[in-house]
Amino acid sequence: MTAKMKLRSQLHLLTGFMAGFVLAFVLLLYVYDVSRMTPCWSSTSTRSMATTAGFVDEPQPRVLCMVLTCPENVQSLARSVYETWGRRCSRLIFASSEDYEPLGVVQVVEPAGGGYEDLWNKTREGFRHVWQHYAGDYDWFLKADDDTYVVMENLQHLLRGFDPDTPVFFGYKMSRYNVSYMSGGASYILSREALHRFATQAYESEVICPQPKKMGIEDFYMGICLQNVGVHFVDSTQALDGDTKPKFMPLDLENYMSDGNYTIPDWLRLMSLSSVETGLGCCSNYSVAFHYASRERMFLYEFLIYHLKVFDSNQISESRHRSRLSLSDLARRFPLEDNSHIKDLLQMSEKPNNF
Ligand SMILES: *[C@@H]1O[C@H](CO)[C@@H](O)[C@H](O)[C@H]1NC(C)=O
Ligand SMILES: *[C@@H]1O[C@H](CO)[C@@H](O)[C@H](O)[C@H]1NC(C)=O
Ligand SMILES: *[C@@H]1O[C@H](CO)[C@@H](O)[C@H](O)[C@H]1NC(C)=O
Ligand SMILES: *[C@@H]1O[C@H](CO)[C@@H](O)[C@H](O)[C@H]1NC(C)=O
Repeated sequence: MTAKMKLRSQLHLLTGFMAGFVLAFVLLLYVYDVSRMTPCWSSTSTRSMATTAGFVDEPQPRVLCMVLTCPENVQSLARSVYETWGRRCSRLIFASSEDYEPLGVVQVVEPAGGGYEDLWNKTREGFRHVWQHYAGDYDWFLKADDDTYVVMENLQHLLRGFDPDTPVFFGYKMSRYNVSYMSGGASYILSREALHRFATQAYESEVICPQPKKMGIEDFYMGICLQNVGVHFVDSTQALDGDTKPKFMPLDLENYMSDGNYTIPDWLRLMSLSSVETGLGCCSNYSVAFHYASRERMFLYEFLIYHLKVFDSNQISESRHRSRLSLSDLARRFPLEDNSHIKDLLQMSEKPNNF
């Protein structure tokens, strides 16, 4: 190759390179423009359809979950929450009277102040901790107990209809002494603005919000505090259009499934705003939470909701194309049992021991 030819081929390479660069740049501008000028385009693209089936292309509500627990429950109930529904929170925090880092358990009250009678102080201090560390990073703040099971997708569905910068409080609405509040065990949710008002107006004022006493009824007190700072109470029976069933359940689901009324305790009837129904119509198909879940019950919910599939012979076409096993294939894959151990049928007619 002469020096002149070498120069020419280098020039060709350079021009080709520059032309490609310009073309890529123009293309990039074009694509950028298209996506910017037509915001609806992205909501019908396969990319976003995959994430939020059919909904407007809005960001997923960011939910911080604060679960109240105590040192005795960390390895049982708190761990169950951590291993099941807690994984679906944008952030999961356990509020307790002792730190336990592997599960994200934070101490928010003194070691001596973690019992049931101190629940209100733990709730107050828990929300203060959340406000101080995370207020700007999340939209909604869920409070659950360590024996609550939450269906996060249904919660997000319900929240999507509301603005976290408006003062809102969701849950199963109850009333005692004519004072409204949301059942604590069924879990309740504060919007960012509701938490803001709780932390900056209610927390420190003893005329707005009860100060900590040796009382377990945190949900009742929370109701008082939030009413007094102008927060709107949204009962779950009214939170979704066209669905008037409750969605935050103060009992275990099994309690609602009896024919009679005997599994529904009197206190629930007394404090509920509407009649408590039993059977399959007890609860919304988009229910969000169930209380009184044991460790086993949490895994039962987890299995039934997220694992168990009902086989649909109409949709899965391969079922019809599956060929039947021939006798020879049957014999190969499932050879006959070795019956040489069946000795004397007369002796076996007595019920054997350890059966
Ligand atoms: C509530 O908890 C805080 C933080 O641990 C503590 O300083 C305060 O004394 C507690 N109040 C009561 C009444 O237990
Ligand atoms: C609640 O309000 C109703 C109607 O105002 C009244 O009749 C009733 O006595 C009140 N109940 C309590 C426990 O204060
Ligand atoms: C349950 O109790 C309600 C109100 O007390 C009553 O109307 C209803 O008939 C009862 N249902 C059954 C199945 O006993
Ligand atoms: C809940 O789901 C069941 C089963 O799909 C359906 O029969 C029932 O109508 C649904 N209830 C409501 C209120 O949509």
